[in-house]
Amino acid sequence: APLLSAAQPTFVANYDESKVGSYPLPDPLMPPNGARITSAKAWEASRGYWLNQFAAHVYGQTPTRPVRLRFQPGEVVPSALGGKATRKQVAIYFADYPALPPINVLIYVPNNARKAAPAFLNLNFCGNHCISTEADLPLSDRWVASTADNHRATEKSRGAQARRWPLDTIVARGYAIVTAYYGDIEPDHPAGWKTGIRSVLGDTTRTDNWGAIGAWAWGMSRILDYLQTDPTIDAKRVIAMGHSRIGKAALWAAAQDKRFVAAISNEAGEGGASLARRTYGETVGRLNYAFPHWFARQYRSYNENVPALPVDQHILLSLIATRPLYVASAEEDRWSDPRGEFLSAKATEPVYGLYRKTGLGPAEYPAVNTSVGKNVRYHVRTGPHDVQPFDWWQYLNFADALVK
Ligand code: GCU
Repeated sequence: APLLSAAQPTFVANYDESKVGSYPLPDPLMPPNGARITSAKAWEASRGYWLNQFAAHVYGQTPTRPVRLRFQPGEVVPSALGGKATRKQVAIYFADYPALPPINVLIYVPNNARKAAPAFLNLNFCGNHCISTEADLPLSDRWVASTADNHRATEKSRGAQARRWPLDTIVARGYAIVTAYYGDIEPDHPAGWKTGIRSVLGDTTRTDNWGAIGAWAWGMSRILDYLQTDPTIDAKRVIAMGHSRIGKAALWAAAQDKRFVAAISNEAGEGGASLARRTYGETVGRLNYAFPHWFARQYRSYNENVPALPVDQHILLSLIATRPLYVASAEEDRWSDPRGEFLSAKATEPVYGLYRKTGLGPAEYPAVNTSVGKNVRYHVRTGPHDVQPFDWWQYLNFADALVK
């Protein structure tokens, strides 16, 4: 694959809608290898083709070799969150690869649930101890992005992202929340693969070898493997969710793994929900330059030639059909291209239509802080790149209506 573009260090993002240009999108119903798709059945049959296009050109191939997992139960706190939830920790070990560190899963299950609870599965950015202010959660012992203590977590980061995880509200609404540090699966830096699952699975000589986003997505499916064994969780109602780079991973996970009942993309942006063919905010070239470990090397060959990409991200979103999908943007997060995320969600309509389902519906680009759509929903919240109470409120309503 070509080297990274030398022009990228001086990259200047376009934020002028009139300079986005025209960008005919590949038609999900017209796979180049076959006849026009006119039925849900034919779409189902073409899923493998499209998934393989994303594997070959964007995220890399997800290894299909089954991996033996060992679930080691950890501490259970029956009255966490003021008695409203049971808090559990479970470590997922890889029996065939004893040198690999486990994925440490943290789960809160509502105590008033009369049956197995539906769940949000959402990886976190800085260790399980970051999502909660509880003093007794162990600090992550993995590489973290913060350089403060030589990439080790400190007490300072406890609860650092708790604001993005309204645990009380989620369990009060009857949902379990399941998380793990994405760095347990692969630390997020170019050499991180050497200590994660990609050190033992995949083929680094191939241009379609998987990247970190593929590994994080794979990890989400392994956590779902565990959830299928946990009687307190309704594994048929687990929603794949993620913010930003983790949103990219959540979408790729849900596209590949139909066990996820729905998907939520919070500002997943370029390489996630937004259309690659729109030159607005981050671009494929910039993404590959800044994060060379996230995607297959093959993706770089489109750095300066996005129209040659055989797919665009609306086809990734379409692979989530006929399941419910929520795509969310933030007004100030222009880097993620809010309008590109909306148009991508809208372009799934023909595929949802094959199932006689309304996707986003006839909605025009909505006013801020307004949730639109039916089986595919969208909002653009005021404010920055973030996960805020408004976002969660919409996701809980969406889950109540379409998942619960
Ligand atoms: C960077 C990156 C985005 C990504 C974001 C995040 O801004 O360019 O593609 O989504 O980080 O993960 O917060």
